[in-house]
Amino acid sequence: MRNGVAEDIGAFLPDGPVLFVTDANLRAIGLTEPALTELREWHDVAVFDAVEEDPSEASVLAAVALGREAGAVSVVGFGGGSPMDVAKAAAYLLGSGDEIAGIYGVGRARGEGLPLVLVPTTAGTGSEATSISILTVGGTEKKGIVAPALYADHALLDPLLTTGLPRHIIAATGVDAMVHAIEAFTSRDLKNPLSDLLAKEALGLLAANIRTACDAPGDLAAREAMLRGAFLAGVAFANAPVAGVHALAYPLGGHFHVPHGLANTLMLPHVLAHNMEAAGPMYAELAPLVDPALAPLGIEGRAQGFVEALVAIAADIGLSPRLADVGVGAADCAMLADEAMKQQRLLVNNPVAITREDARRIYEAAL
Ligand SMILES: [Fe+2]
Repeated sequence: MRNGVAEDIGAFLPDGPVLFVTDANLRAIGLTEPALTELREWHDVAVFDAVEEDPSEASVLAAVALGREAGAVSVVGFGGGSPMDVAKAAAYLLGSGDEIAGIYGVGRARGEGLPLVLVPTTAGTGSEATSISILTVGGTEKKGIVAPALYADHALLDPLLTTGLPRHIIAATGVDAMVHAIEAFTSRDLKNPLSDLLAKEALGLLAANIRTACDAPGDLAAREAMLRGAFLAGVAFANAPVAGVHALAYPLGGHFHVPHGLANTLMLPHVLAHNMEAAGPMYAELAPLVDPALAPLGIEGRAQGFVEALVAIAADIGLSPRLADVGVGAADCAMLADEAMKQQRLLVNNPVAITREDARRIYEAAL
């Protein structure tokens, strides 16, 4: 991590053509230019900039086709979670020669991908630190490819890249990162002392800096803290996976195109309330990191205060929507619950079981 490190990207790649995956908006505002200019001095570069929000399997296949045509020997993912997730899947497919249909799920991508460098331009997804690529398949369903082969060889954290972000994106991606830390800390079976330490460090950094990052765009120290926090939360949930909040958020992205961070913000307090019986003591442990004033309270007070403090942060940074604000009505809750049940990969990590009926009730509470 350092200001300007993205311009040194060429030093992290092997000789030979590079597939550079980004999105059209980042190119249009010129954010990719310093890195691309530097890169072109050393490498032939094929740029794939057609990554969309909630990236599709089709985007990955198009990126792979371009990479193959260019003879790419390495891949760069430059942007938010979407370009990074496409780059991860494309690097794997180009290197391994596998078919994409056979690698969805956990541990099914067993080949070797091309060398991969990820450069996040938001402080949120933590995708630069995880072995997960989330793609939209068949128009609405979110599917994950999860395997060690998807880890990047290098993640370059450059706070300068995040200074031009609009406030609502800083806010939503920042909450996403906080949810990664929280869900890693309460992950049911794979919670472990190392991911706990990383999650706590991440949540403390994110909670202490998210308001400043949103309100003072030029505050580089806050941007650096957010980028570091998002990365550490990514390392935490790469080892102790996320759970119910994400499981219920994904159908909102798939069916209503609610941005991922905002979808998490919508579901967060309601899933935490559902989890309280089992996860309360863990939420109590995290509470002073989010609001130091909660420290003297008992376990129950801290756990309740934790949820309230998270809602207060979301409101302060301009995120206090209800499902109704993003076009979801009461009649949609049953369908969303059905869709959430497809996210068993995530639901199994939740500290409390979420049945279809629970999911429907949680969506209804968020209306
Ligand atoms: Fe997330």
